[in-house]
Amino acid sequence: MISDKSLSEYIKGIPKAELHVHIEGTLEPELMFEFAERNGIKIKYKSVQELREAYNFNNLQEFLDIYYAGASVLLTEQDFFDMTCSYLQKAHSQNVIHAEIFFDPQSHTSRGISFDTVIKGIHRALEDGKTKFGISSKLIPCFLRHLDSDSAMETLKTAGQYKDWITAFGLDSSEKGNPPLKFQKVFDAVREAGFLTVAHAGEEGPAEYVWEAIDVLKVSRIDHGNRSLDDASLVEYLSREKIPLTVCPLSNLKLKVVKDLKKHPLKEMMKRGVMVTINSDDPAYFGGYVGENYMALADSLDLNREEIYQLVQNSFTASFLNDDEKKIMVTKAAEFNFDFNPV
Ligand code: ADE
Ligand code: ZN
Repeated sequence: MISDKSLSEYIKGIPKAELHVHIEGTLEPELMFEFAERNGIKIKYKSVQELREAYNFNNLQEFLDIYYAGASVLLTEQDFFDMTCSYLQKAHSQNVIHAEIFFDPQSHTSRGISFDTVIKGIHRALEDGKTKFGISSKLIPCFLRHLDSDSAMETLKTAGQYKDWITAFGLDSSEKGNPPLKFQKVFDAVREAGFLTVAHAGEEGPAEYVWEAIDVLKVSRIDHGNRSLDDASLVEYLSREKIPLTVCPLSNLKLKVVKDLKKHPLKEMMKRGVMVTINSDDPAYFGGYVGENYMALADSLDLNREEIYQLVQNSFTASFLNDDEKKIMVTKAAEFNFDFNPV
């Protein structure tokens, strides 16, 4: 627990962006049961409590198995709409003013749910979030790296029809044994179609995968990137080229990417000039939304207010907003920072 009450109020209040959140990972157990009931789907757990108790993971794969099973209750456009609205409400309560949101099309199309159903539900909620809460957003479909590149290419073809709703494409799921290189052709096609690229790399996989994501997939950001610190020349490169890392502390702890948050690499990355940001990844599974992620790291790494402010500024700088939009949001954070006078 943070003992400095003013720091926790600062973290909660400051306007911020979230750049790494999987919308399927925001599906809270209560909502999962509600959707299962209305869709006539049986869940293997008897209660919300029993389901939450299953959220104990020894690695990424153990989590992914439960996460894909959880997503199977999502059938209709309304389900995707409701789930996204629920995330936006939570994000708004923590003063998130911009969110860049991942979704996993193949985890739905493989169950017979059309891409149109998925994206229409999410997009409509994002439009609502803009009107209701003033939250701006970007949408990033991710290719599942445990599947083959033909399946990814097919997904790109379908998704490409929604060019106005999509900003970038990402790469997620089981990292070990599925290097970025496997998706070279797909990412070439993604960029040729005019989209930006990001990729999960260096979460469980080696620093070499971070290099590959940069060199081969030409990503604008690395998702996670924890293992980058294993390679001094990579850290130097990330810092010099200002390639941001979207770091997810509670995810790292829950998936045993780090043993202890006190040993989390974020502070060392900051010290070495890497543009790091704090994010929630799959908040319904890892015990906290973006605010709790800031709080947990501030506590375990003893981050001060200046460091939190830097991380918040990074969240806008590293976003896919245009320069004018970034300026407006950075100014909002600066005004909050200036006005913040704890009693
Ligand atoms: N999909 C959802 N969360 C993920 C994570 N932390 N790593 C890889 N793929 C994911
Ligand atoms: Zn992720």
